[in-house]
Amino acid sequence: MTRHFLTISDLSRDELFGVLDRAAELKAVRGTSAHPEPLRGKSIAIVFEKASTRTRLSFEVGIHELGAQPVTLISKDTQLGRGEPIEDTARMLSRYVHGVVYRTFGHERLEALARAATIPVVNGLSDKFHPVQLLADMMTIRQSFGPSLEGARVAWVGDGNNMAHSWIVSSAIAGFELVLACPPGYQPDPGVLSDARSRGARVEVVERPEEALDGATVVTTDVWASMGQEAEAAERERAFAGFIIDDAAMKRAHRDAIFLHCLPAHRGEEVSASVIDGPRSRVWDEAENRLHTQKALLEWLLAQPREVAGFG
Ligand code: CP
Ligand code: NVA
Repeated sequence: MTRHFLTISDLSRDELFGVLDRAAELKAVRGTSAHPEPLRGKSIAIVFEKASTRTRLSFEVGIHELGAQPVTLISKDTQLGRGEPIEDTARMLSRYVHGVVYRTFGHERLEALARAATIPVVNGLSDKFHPVQLLADMMTIRQSFGPSLEGARVAWVGDGNNMAHSWIVSSAIAGFELVLACPPGYQPDPGVLSDARSRGARVEVVERPEEALDGATVVTTDVWASMGQEAEAAERERAFAGFIIDDAAMKRAHRDAIFLHCLPAHRGEEVSASVIDGPRSRVWDEAENRLHTQKALLEWLLAQPREVAGFG
């Protein structure tokens, strides 16, 4: 059966920890002769309907390091961008390449691609979820606090957006505690919350940042206006007044708390320069971990089991 990775819950708990463990192994052997090339001879397409820096770089470099050929398509330069159906694109991609990473707007477009494809589909960000970012974020938490994620208390302060949703789904699979502070009107999708809670997630949604920050070991946020919401930027700036993660906000958190941000960041809006450029920030490790975790994910999705060392 073809496995896809459209959201974190496409992995079981054991599979998730297997990918995170493998990412650490791949990081350790990067640049040495011990680094495996389990995808040698394969090609993987990366299709963008939205801008990207990290996702493009980390997938292109990671696919190359696994021995495969990345093929990046910017949608506006393709027939997809001129209205060719996503299902036809899926059928065609399935004849040429061994896997596809897709960054799009509506999550239903990703699901349509996955339904019509006979190759693994990876979500490179949709309006609903950004699961490859959460793999990197969870690897970063483990680097600070050890392999078990269950003891982490994560404070999300900001928009109930694709990143917030991915934290919610991850809390259900990985077992950490999550409190999201979101202003009225910008809270996460109730369906995402109820699904995570039905899987046992310890998730709470509050309206005041202080309620999320008290005692948090991980403090995280994201831009107030995501890609596609540029016209709402001024209105959102007003709604999110007081939601900045600054030194005062970090003081409320646990004294060993780390700061994460998927990037790109807007200094002076959702985070102060003193925090993102300060000693508690782990954002550059987090960005690097996109590479290691996506390599582990692609190996797991695409390599023959006999070619995969370290996890099954
Ligand atoms: N964090 C992230 O996905 O960054 P890009 O938009 O630059 O890919
Ligand atoms: N929420 C942001 C994340 C960017 C990586 C967006 O969707 O634009």
